[in-house]
Amino acid sequence: MKSIRDFNLSGKRVLLRADFNVPMDEQNRITDDTRVTMVLPTIRYILKEKGKLILCSHMGRPKGKKVDSLSLAPVAGHLQALLGVPVTLAPDCVGAEVTALVEKMAEGEVLLLENLRFHPEETANDPAFSGQLAKLADVYINDAFAASHRAHASVVGVAERVAEKGAGLLLQMEMDYFQKSMADPIRPLVAVIGGAKVSSKLGALENMLSKVDSMIIGGAMANTFLKSMGFQVGASKVEDDLLDTAKHFVDAAKAKGVKLYLPVDFVVADRFAADAVTKTVAFCDIPSGWMALDIGPASAILFQEALQDAKTIIWNGPMGAFEIDAFARGTMAMCRTLAAAHALSIVGGGDSNAAVKKSGEGKNISYMSTGGGAFLELMEGKVLPGVAVLDC
Ligand code: 3PG
Repeated sequence: MKSIRDFNLSGKRVLLRADFNVPMDEQNRITDDTRVTMVLPTIRYILKEKGKLILCSHMGRPKGKKVDSLSLAPVAGHLQALLGVPVTLAPDCVGAEVTALVEKMAEGEVLLLENLRFHPEETANDPAFSGQLAKLADVYINDAFAASHRAHASVVGVAERVAEKGAGLLLQMEMDYFQKSMADPIRPLVAVIGGAKVSSKLGALENMLSKVDSMIIGGAMANTFLKSMGFQVGASKVEDDLLDTAKHFVDAAKAKGVKLYLPVDFVVADRFAADAVTKTVAFCDIPSGWMALDIGPASAILFQEALQDAKTIIWNGPMGAFEIDAFARGTMAMCRTLAAAHALSIVGGGDSNAAVKKSGEGKNISYMSTGGGAFLELMEGKVLPGVAVLDC
């Protein structure tokens, strides 16, 4: 995979695929600009090298139609403020007007194309649409790690049609950290996997089992594991169709010599609500009608001990329903444990990242990935199409 540093960008039209799919509030204000700031080094590099910078991104899922609330206008404004140079928002991402805007660009200028997904051809990886985008570029750079698991036109189709193509600085950093933590880790390597559903993490669980020395399982998915081992879980969320899978997973971990840690206590509630009645119980004492919504304090200590000697830690998925304060303690404890660990700590996924931000421990984590689905697909052992296409 070539790097942006391998190209002469001077005077060239550089099409930079970024992932500016940032969260916004009802007034269309960006509430977390991490995905914008993480691309700044690549943007600044292109401007320093005197390229003509054409940025493109998706925002949300407008399903192939123009949706005003999903315009990239707020990103253009924010980027302009961050860079201190004008950022022009094109009225579309392809078409005569866009071509004309690109033609009159000078070195060091910045044009942001409008939301790619306003066209259904983007997600369909349509050849003609990819060709139109490719015509705008002398050099194509992918810095959209978080979208690189999508075989879309701006991620794959364009890259197939531009001879000079490579990875931006963010994409390189994401892949380097993942390589360090998975392909060539300093051991012990421990995976912490949480979240609501075994089904959505099954691929990651199975792939990680062949890589790690220990694995910690938290979040509602732990309920399915406990039930598969014969324990009562009351009214907790469970995937009954995966009980056998969970049981086989526990057996496979044992056979491989991987230490598997499950919660030993829970914060349970009489209903899923901020003002629910709660109590802390042992894993084998969840009362009927109550639901486990967070790991308990003993589990937090157990997990802390399990991570004591870790040299590499990968975390994806919260320990409980942390969006409600009453059920956030387990996840906050995990944030602190990772922050204090003498290990390379890598966190990925929207919920885990939001939890780390809520805890204020972000600066003490080695690397927080900008990827959600893309990060999970790497944990599943998959090759990201947006990365693979840069190789050929
Ligand atoms: C993300 O937020 O994970 C990326 O921007 C990809 O978005 P998508 O899931 O809508 O493809």
